Amino acid sequence: DTWPKDVGILAMEVYFPAQYVDQTDLEKYNNVEAGKYTVGLGQTHMGFCSVQEDINSLCLTVVQRLMERTQLPWDAVGRLEVGTETIIDKSKAVKTVLMELFQDSGNTDIEGIDTTNACYGGTASLFNAANWMESSYWDGRYALVVCGDIAVYPNGNARPTGGAGAVAMLIGPKAPLALEQGLRGTHMENAYDFYKPNLASEYPLVDGKLSIQCYLRALDRCYTSYRQKIQKQWKQAGIDRPFTLDDLQYMIFHTPFCKMVQKSLARLMFNDFRSSSGDTQALYQGLEAFRELKLEDTYTNKDLDKALLKASLDMFNKKTKASLYLSTHNGNMYTSSLYGCLASLLSHHSAQDLAGSRIGAFSYGSGLAASFFSFRVSQDASPGSPLDTLVNSISDLPKRLASRKRMSPEEFTEIMNQREQFFHKVNFSPPGDTNNLFPGTWYLERVDEMYRRKYARRP
Ligand code: HMG
Repeated sequence: DTWPKDVGILAMEVYFPAQYVDQTDLEKYNNVEAGKYTVGLGQTHMGFCSVQEDINSLCLTVVQRLMERTQLPWDAVGRLEVGTETIIDKSKAVKTVLMELFQDSGNTDIEGIDTTNACYGGTASLFNAANWMESSYWDGRYALVVCGDIAVYPNGNARPTGGAGAVAMLIGPKAPLALEQGLRGTHMENAYDFYKPNLASEYPLVDGKLSIQCYLRALDRCYTSYRQKIQKQWKQAGIDRPFTLDDLQYMIFHTPFCKMVQKSLARLMFNDFRSSSGDTQALYQGLEAFRELKLEDTYTNKDLDKALLKASLDMFNKKTKASLYLSTHNGNMYTSSLYGCLASLLSHHSAQDLAGSRIGAFSYGSGLAASFFSFRVSQDASPGSPLDTLVNSISDLPKRLASRKRMSPEEFTEIMNQREQFFHKVNFSPPGDTNNLFPGTWYLERVDEMYRRKYARRP
C-alpha cells in the first residue's frame, strides 16, 4: 500500500458577502405569514452580493485568504479544482482567473479546472483532488479545492432560499479531517428539479416540490449504498452488524434551507428503522405505525414527517444542528453549502469534542448527482496539532457573520434588479462603494467591450 495516509482537509477558509437581508423583514415585505421563512424554512438571514462581486471575485478572495493564513508558498500547490454552478462564461473556467494569484510565483504547473453540476461540483472537485493524491500522477504537492456560488431566484417563493459564498480547502495527506477510503455511496439520475437552461439569466428554473422529493430519494439511495460498503469493510474485519446513525458522531448535509436538513436527518433515522427488526420501540418511538407504508408514499406523508421529526430531535440537536449556523445566517451557497456546514460544525465544537469522531456528509446537486461519504477526525487534539489549528482558524465565524451590514428588503430588491440589469452587459464599471466589502475582498472593477473582466482588491 503506497497511498499517502489520511488524505483530506488540512485547512479551510470561508467567505460570505458583507451584507444580508433579515428574513423577518422579507416576510413582511413579501406579504407572507410571519414564520413562513424563519420557521417554515428555518432561515433567519440571507447574504447577497452586489454587482461588484461575481463568481471569480468570490473565489479570488477565498483562495487568497486561505493562502495568506496558512502562509504556504504559491508553488506548494500542484492542483486547483473549482466547483461552481454560477456560470458567467461557457468556456473560460474560473480556475483560469485564479491563476492570476499564482503569477508572481511562476507556478503554472497546476492541474484541475471547473466542475459543474448544480450544488454537487464542490464535492466532485474534492473527490478529484483526493483521487489525484492517491494516483501515480501525484507529485507530492498540495491540492486546493474551491467552491462558490451566488444563489439567486426571481421574485417568488424560492427567493428566500438564496444566498452566496465560497469555501476554499487545502487538501493533503495526514489531514485532521481524512476522507474515509472506499466509502462513497453515490446516486445519479436524470431529473428536471432545478436547472439553468436560460443562459441570458442568473436565475434557475425550479420545481420546488419535485426538488425536495429528488433530494430525499437520493439521500435514501446514497445512504443505502454507503452502508452496504462500510458493512462489507466491517465484515472483512470480522464485525457483523448493521451500520446506523449511532456510528456517525456528526452528520452534515447540503443545505438548501435548514428545515430540509432537519427532515433529512429524520429521513436517515427512518432508513435505520426500516432496516431494523425485532423490538425497536425504545429506539424508534412512534414509528412502528409507518413500517408497512409503500416507499413512494413516505416522501409526502405529513404524519410520518411529524413522527420522524419528533423521534429524531435529540439526534438532530447532537449531530447536526451546530453545522447549520452559517446556512441559517447566510442561506444556500450551492456548491459551498456542505463545506460551510463543515466549517460551522468545527466552529461550534472544541478539538477535544471532535477528536476521533466520524462525520457523515451528504452532497446533493439537482439534475441530479448525489453522494454520501465520511470524514474521520484525527485523534490528536493537543494544542498546536493540525486539528487544533484547523478548529481555531474557524472559531471567529460567528463574530464575522455578526459584523455584516443589515440591508432593507427594498435595498436587497434594488440590488437584485441591478444584477439582472448588468448580467451580460459590456463596457461598464460596477456601481457601488467598495468600502461596503470586507477588507481584503476582491471585486469586479471593469468589464470591457470584449467581455474581459478586471478585478481589484480592497485594501
Ligand atoms: P413554498 O411554496 O414557500 O413552500 O416553497 P411551502 O408553502 O410548502 O412552505 C414551506 C414550509 O413552511 C412548509 O413546511 C410550511 O408548512 C411552512 P412543511 O409543511 O413542508 O414542513 N410554513 C410555515 N411555518 C411556520 N409558520 C408559517 C408558515 N407558513 C408556511 N407562517 C420551497 C418552498 C422550498 C419549495 C421553495 O422555496 C423553493 O422552491 N426553493 C428552491 C428549491 C429548493 O431549495 N429545493 C430544495 C431541495 S433541491 C436542492 O437542495 C438543490 C439546490 O440547492 C440547487 C442545486 O443543487 O444547485 C436547490
